[in-house]
Amino acid sequence: MAVIRFIEEPSERKRISRMILESLTKWFEVTESREQFIEGSADQLFWASFEDDIPTGFLCLKRTGKDTVELAVTGVLEGHQRMGTGRLLFEEAKKYAVSEGYSFMQVKTVRYGMYEDYDRTNDFYRSLGFKEFEVLEDLWDKDNPCQIYVMSLKNTVDVINMRHSYRGSFSSDPVPRKDLEIIATSGINAPSGCNKQTTGFIIVDDPEVLGKIKSVIDPPVAKTAPSMIVVVSKRINAYRDKCFATQDYAAAIENMLLTIVELGYQSCWYEGHITDDDRICDKIAEILGVPEDTDVVCILPVGKAEEEIKTPNKKAFEERVSFNHY
Ligand SMILES: Cc1cc2nc3c(=O)[nH]c(=O)nc-3n(C[C@H](O)[C@H](O)[C@H](O)COP(=O)(O)O)c2cc1C
Repeated sequence: MAVIRFIEEPSERKRISRMILESLTKWFEVTESREQFIEGSADQLFWASFEDDIPTGFLCLKRTGKDTVELAVTGVLEGHQRMGTGRLLFEEAKKYAVSEGYSFMQVKTVRYGMYEDYDRTNDFYRSLGFKEFEVLEDLWDKDNPCQIYVMSLKNTVDVINMRHSYRGSFSSDPVPRKDLEIIATSGINAPSGCNKQTTGFIIVDDPEVLGKIKSVIDPPVAKTAPSMIVVVSKRINAYRDKCFATQDYAAAIENMLLTIVELGYQSCWYEGHITDDDRICDKIAEILGVPEDTDVVCILPVGKAEEEIKTPNKKAFEERVSFNHY
């Protein structure tokens, strides 16, 4: 199984792309354009696949706009094709693009039906989920009509699977109000028992208020977060003596965590820490003027991650899921 690594060093990027592309002359026959790909790869986001520490393939991503990236070039040695390496490289790059908040990825190739080898390339991109966007007949030359493929990076299932609790440091960049409103709106739109809407949201982005909240969180968490959402809950019965306030705020929090990730930020569900015996939640409630009948139940920091997102172990699928019987 290939191992995928992100390559930082420009000269190493060029060495690997040269080694791979010079072996793939069916696709990269013209020396001038091949050299352009190799030269360009030095400054692009670059992932390489290795087997026994020997490069077997690579993929480059290029930022083309605020919300868009392009799969600029990819190649896998012929002896290693059709073994899932290209897909692994793509999944790594896509994971990065989603986590950085990009909305779309494009890729260009020669239109289907021109050459057998490029038809395989088209099949590969389609199998990854790319959709036909437009054919530009004259971008390259008339024998090589350019097919542009595009893919939305905002797939709910992807976002669910890549969300994890982030407890590292945040960049000091403020989170725009517009984004904080989108996040809180996702909380509002969560289901609630009998639609009692028992959950409320206090968006905190004023550095002074944020500072006061952070000063009562001991031991400290989310110390560098540029903003947070304080989740409050009112214990209103849904019917008879049934209160679903806990389920209501859990659904709202998960909606917000997913939206936070989709917008390119990170967070963590801090509930245990603030609702323990030392009742940090009550101190936060006092700072924010939350009334007596309403509980502060959770804080969600919101900001851009500065450190790696760690993936915790999850129990095996079979341990938690079964069909038709426990
Ligand atoms: C009800 C609840 C309370 C939580 N409280 C805390 C907390 O106080 N501090 C913390 O670091 N993480 C807290 N978490 C996050 C969990 O530790 C985390 O979701 C779990 O370890 C799984 O990791 P993942 O979110 O990365 O998948 C809480 C999660 C839930 C659902």
